[in-house]
Amino acid sequence: MRFGICYYPEHWPPERWEADAQLMQQAGITLIRVAEFAWSVIQPTADQYEWQWLDDVIALFGRYGIDTMIGTPTATPPIWLTRQHPDILHVDSNLQPREHGGRKHYCPNSPTYRAHSHTIVTKMVERYGQHPHVVGWQIDNEFGESNSARCYCTHCEAAFHQWLRERYSAIATLNEAWGAVFWSQTYSEWAQIPLPSDNNPRPNPSHKLDYYRFASDSFVSYQAEQIAILRTHAPHHVVTHNYMGLFPELDCFDLARPLDFAAWDNYPTGFPDQWRDMIDDTQANYAYDVGDPGVMGLAHALMYGLKQRPYWVMEQQCGHINWGKMNPRSRPGTPRLWTWHAVAEGADTIVYFRWRATVLAHENYHSGLLKQDGTPDVGYRDLLMLQQERALLDETAAQPNAAAVAILFSYDDLWAQELQPHRHDWHYLQAIYNWYDALRRQGINVHLVNDTADLAPYSTLIAPSAHIVTDPLVAKLTEYAQKGGTVILGVRSGFKTESNRVTERPLPGQLRDLVGATVVDWSPLPDNVTVTLSCNILSGTAGYWLEHLETETAEAVATTADGTVLTRNQVGDGQLFYVGWWPTSGQIQDLMAHLGVTSDVLLPAGVVHKRRGERSILLNFTDQVQVVHLGDRVVSIAPRDVAVVTR
Ligand code: GAL
Repeated sequence: MRFGICYYPEHWPPERWEADAQLMQQAGITLIRVAEFAWSVIQPTADQYEWQWLDDVIALFGRYGIDTMIGTPTATPPIWLTRQHPDILHVDSNLQPREHGGRKHYCPNSPTYRAHSHTIVTKMVERYGQHPHVVGWQIDNEFGESNSARCYCTHCEAAFHQWLRERYSAIATLNEAWGAVFWSQTYSEWAQIPLPSDNNPRPNPSHKLDYYRFASDSFVSYQAEQIAILRTHAPHHVVTHNYMGLFPELDCFDLARPLDFAAWDNYPTGFPDQWRDMIDDTQANYAYDVGDPGVMGLAHALMYGLKQRPYWVMEQQCGHINWGKMNPRSRPGTPRLWTWHAVAEGADTIVYFRWRATVLAHENYHSGLLKQDGTPDVGYRDLLMLQQERALLDETAAQPNAAAVAILFSYDDLWAQELQPHRHDWHYLQAIYNWYDALRRQGINVHLVNDTADLAPYSTLIAPSAHIVTDPLVAKLTEYAQKGGTVILGVRSGFKTESNRVTERPLPGQLRDLVGATVVDWSPLPDNVTVTLSCNILSGTAGYWLEHLETETAEAVATTADGTVLTRNQVGDGQLFYVGWWPTSGQIQDLMAHLGVTSDVLLPAGVVHKRRGERSILLNFTDQVQVVHLGDRVVSIAPRDVAVVTR
């Protein structure tokens, strides 16, 4: 595995660079990521390029055995570009163009912006594509950040029309797919179709879902243009992008497909704040400065599942940040714990953000491995500790990251349910998290995958809510079950067609044959209403959302006084369960135990267990000593410490 650092040499005088290189070398850093926000330094005016500083940086760090990963600088178009061509600007959902002075103020569909980003990326890769110390490229930075995933400019409107044409061919087909006859929306020309901005308080969910898909595809296509340039001029370099974990507005599976590997920015004390209204994990007694490893674990599981292989953490928090709700300082040991967590979850390269805390502008309250004064901070000292245990880290990162269970994740389902949650607090991510968390609390490895994944490695596939169903999904699930897999479907599965209409078939629509039962009624349940279950494999009550089924080929596994709520259907050599309520952790664990998905790990709350090959990695995210039972072994772990046990 490899350690790297996000480095901003343009923020410091060149006389300082060599001292930085020496300090990096001492800490085992062999990679710098540079230049992703340096467009105005590289190209201060439209016809002037300044390469010398970057040439010098790459050469100097190369002399210290440190390679360079270059970020294409398109997240920050310079002022000469935004002033000369205001049509490149992102327009928000209130139809207001973004002002210059932050970042991500561009539209990926602006032809002018595409032309300028084509030029700057080409110039960069022409210059550095064959450089012996350059190893790869990060495209742009965090697509969607600064609320930029969905743009409402006139270029997007035109591109949306084209996207719709390609999808539906005929306007009548679109009208049918969207149910446009409802509220007199029927269109007769593509050009009439508006972007569903906030000026329409009651948008059609089919229209809006297609707009969300289009917005995501816009970044896929924008990224593809950069990939093509990079691959042409630097075919031997790796190419990636840094995602924001569970960021819900862009389809990371689509974005990751053409990349060499996935990468993401892991901010344990920041992202859980942002995701708190979608994922509520209030149970643990985590230390105050570690963030939420359950929620971050879900993001790691997604990042592994994007390509079902090791990924990079392109920005690993290594001290306090400046954009969370509280931003506590990291105590010694916490950056080390996050690093081990990332490695345990499947990252094989950890790039910290950032090298030296800046004195400048937007992020001058943010930490780095070094303090603003250039001396080591907590993160740097933790990195020195990690170098002491480097052999163990390397061996751990090289172990297989197998999982018996995969959870099916679909951005279409996430968006469709966000548009129509039906109960105010329904969140697709919460549904996913409930299943993930029940397994994680038993120390069972889980990957998050989409419907294009190779499912062969998994004995069980859980779809907490396979809401929008397509023919390929039905075929995939059928084949998987017929070959011996167990599929578990949760509530609201099969309810919608691809264009976000409700299916006209009996529920669960296209999945009904596989389920072997019909969902005959469904309802959210108020929080104070629960229904007693009668079942041999799990106990307790059903709540949150309830669906009753009438069995055909399936057998009833759990019932309430009003009917069947859990079914099992034999499908070839495998089987399918339909769970007609939102199960508790304990119920999920009982169902899994019934399926033979168990572990011999007894975990106290606040401790994470990951199995990697013959290794058990135990991470204590609390401030107390914790005792874990691994089979008949008892392992004690100090506060915020890590134990790696070979089994
Ligand atoms: C990330 C971003 C970095 C930096 C960092 C601060 O989202 O990619 O450029 O802003 O946050 O925590």
